[in-house]
Amino acid sequence: MRVLVVGNGGREHALAWKISQSPRLKRLWIAPGNAGTALEGENVPISADDIAGIVRFSKKESVDLVVVGPELPLTLGLVDALEQEKIRAFGPSRAAAQLEGSKVACKQTLRKADVPTAEYQVFQDADSATRYVKARYPGERDKAPLVVKADGLASGKGVIVCSRREQVLEAIDRMGRKMEFGKASLPMVIEERLDGQEVSVLAITDGRTILPLPPAQDHKAAFDGDQGPNTGGMGAYSPTPIIDAELLETVEDKILVPTIHTMKRSRKPFRGVLYAGLMLTSNGPKVLEYNVRFGDPECQPILMRLKSDLLDILEATVDGRLGEIQPPEWDTRPSICVVMASAGYPGEYSKDQEITGLDRASGVADVKVFHAGTSLKDGKVVTAGGRVLGVTALGESLAIAKLNAYTAVKEIRWPGAWCRKDISDKAAEHLLSSSAKAD
Ligand code: AMP
Ligand code: GLY
Repeated sequence: MRVLVVGNGGREHALAWKISQSPRLKRLWIAPGNAGTALEGENVPISADDIAGIVRFSKKESVDLVVVGPELPLTLGLVDALEQEKIRAFGPSRAAAQLEGSKVACKQTLRKADVPTAEYQVFQDADSATRYVKARYPGERDKAPLVVKADGLASGKGVIVCSRREQVLEAIDRMGRKMEFGKASLPMVIEERLDGQEVSVLAITDGRTILPLPPAQDHKAAFDGDQGPNTGGMGAYSPTPIIDAELLETVEDKILVPTIHTMKRSRKPFRGVLYAGLMLTSNGPKVLEYNVRFGDPECQPILMRLKSDLLDILEATVDGRLGEIQPPEWDTRPSICVVMASAGYPGEYSKDQEITGLDRASGVADVKVFHAGTSLKDGKVVTAGGRVLGVTALGESLAIAKLNAYTAVKEIRWPGAWCRKDISDKAAEHLLSSSAKAD
């Protein structure tokens, strides 16, 4: 098979790495890729959102399957454009990708499907949102546990979690008056703030069969102990013991199945990866958001454990025969991915720093270093993004996987490199607190 992976992050490196292991693969391209994907296949300099360019390349090279990594090309209709040219593509259509592309569309679908989620209101402008908040919380110093969300894609920055009324009003001002997220700013959703553990359940679906993948937990805050600003994700591990088999079944029955069913009934059948960002509240799991693609970095530890041929699974999804293939086989060992970032991330960060120690890091047992923001310059690997590498490891236990990953991290250097030191600790805390409860 001739396969094109679209994107240039850690997720796409993991996809390219796994696809490159398939005996059925003939040729693999990554558009535009990074220094890591260049080791698994051939990078082609086409940007992920250049829909016409990707279609042209796929036709010219008779690509059999295009695997779309990021959300932007999906919401721009890349899969539809490829299908029009009879090129098979893994990922949802433009209409189905609205589950991620529009928070309002997502909330409406959740309501229609009767899926548990935070109570919400939609506002078309800042004035009506301000009036609502002031009426609900009349005291200037009132607590107001609300979340303000810009409707469109805003690279994870369009969500402001608030505790007090003044924060909510400021968030409304930033979105509705200053239009900080451009066109994506309005309408805005204001919803109840939920409390609990946050986990990610990703499922592959062809619109009929749903294949939940082992659950993962991301670490969105920049610093240890979940402090600091939100990022794209500073690390993840899988499976997470925070979701046991019974809870995963509840998520499937109460969340995934009704959502896929509702998408079908609304004539927007969903095919690809449905990623449910969940809050495990005292009233059960509730959907915080849907993404319509593999999570980054969740994809890295999940694929590290996959033993089956990923191409078989992707192809069966595209062809609508996911129900006919054998269920995937997973390594019994857990895995963890630690993101190494550039100084300054998630704010302004430096680029073009030479990265050393990659070979030594890859030599650590059960470790794979996935590249995210890297490029090749004069034959050297240099930093080219905020999240630079995803150092991913397997281990007999999560503690050993963590040790392996951080042993590899220590080998890698560039000026200003940093990472969180506590990736996966929530799993250990969860196990401790549940065994204390059982005593
Ligand atoms: P989203 O892009 O909707 O997932 O939001 C990004 C992050 O904001 C989530 O991963 C949560 O950490 C947080 N978040 C979103 N909605 C809520 C909510 N209703 N309550 C608490 N936190 C939330
Ligand atoms: N890790 C969060 C995301 O991919 O959106």
